Amino acid sequence: MIDNKTIQTMLARKSVRKYTGRVPDDEAVRTVVRAGQQAPFASQLYSVLLQRGGKAPFGAPLWFVICVDAHKLERFMELRDWKLVTNDLSLLLLGMQDAAYMAQNMVIAAESIGMGSCFLGEGSLSAGRIRALAKQYKLPPRVLPMVELVMGYPDEDFPPRPRYPLDFMLFEGEYPSLSDEQVRLAVDVMDEGYLAQDYYKHAKAKIALEDGRPDSYDYDSYSWTEHISRKWGQWMPDAADMLGALRERGFDLRPERDTAAEAGSHDDQ
Ligand SMILES: Cc1cc2nc3c(=O)[nH]c(=O)nc-3n(C[C@H](O)[C@H](O)[C@H](O)COP(=O)(O)O)c2cc1C
Repeated sequence: MIDNKTIQTMLARKSVRKYTGRVPDDEAVRTVVRAGQQAPFASQLYSVLLQRGGKAPFGAPLWFVICVDAHKLERFMELRDWKLVTNDLSLLLLGMQDAAYMAQNMVIAAESIGMGSCFLGEGSLSAGRIRALAKQYKLPPRVLPMVELVMGYPDEDFPPRPRYPLDFMLFEGEYPSLSDEQVRLAVDVMDEGYLAQDYYKHAKAKIALEDGRPDSYDYDSYSWTEHISRKWGQWMPDAADMLGALRERGFDLRPERDTAAEAGSHDDQ
């Protein structure tokens, strides 16, 4: 593989869940966010909220909330006598990409100046978290908290976490028909990699089995694919509450709403 400082920084990055008390100075904060901003964008559909020195998870001194933001887009379009008619689903899909690429640029910038970080995804699982953040930060309509990001100087050091083998995710020409053996090989790489650093034992992060199902896993066998299976095999089967929270934030994903909006925009012309 090609080796340089940027690649080394990216390959060494891992989520940090313990921080020293050292508070990053203003220059560090502004550098990280400015570097984040320089990510590719569809329409800069984002804002970053920041809380410093509070009670952030893992004792982190910086607590960002990365938001999808169509409010500012609408504000400048309004000044130019334009009305946004794009459907909310496309707007949200593009906005999530803008916000995510920007957030990940922040993560790498932080890593490059000796800081660590960890995303927190509760807002994608809990309508209550979206509502709480909207209230705390007085968010205007069309601003949606997408993911939280804590940051600071690491007070722990682990090797980087494993990833799928490259040939399990890079498919040239066409998507292959995956054999069970290939899937098992990828599962083994991931599970052995996480077990080798006692990841779940250290984090005490075992997800309980619901409905009284007997649990035959202990921390010497519980690893990434079991953890991920327990998440997506038990969590959030219903989207109604989340769709409600999105609607309250000004993103209405029902197709009938888009038809109505489109009709309205034609009337205006
Ligand atoms: C969208 C998203 C949500 C996440 N949510 C959480 C979270 O709630 N709590 C946590 O400790 N880590 C969270 N993470 C971090 C992942 O657990 C972590 O990135 C993954 O296990 C890979 O490990 P690494 O970042 O150390 O390579 C999240 C990451 C992403 C991208």
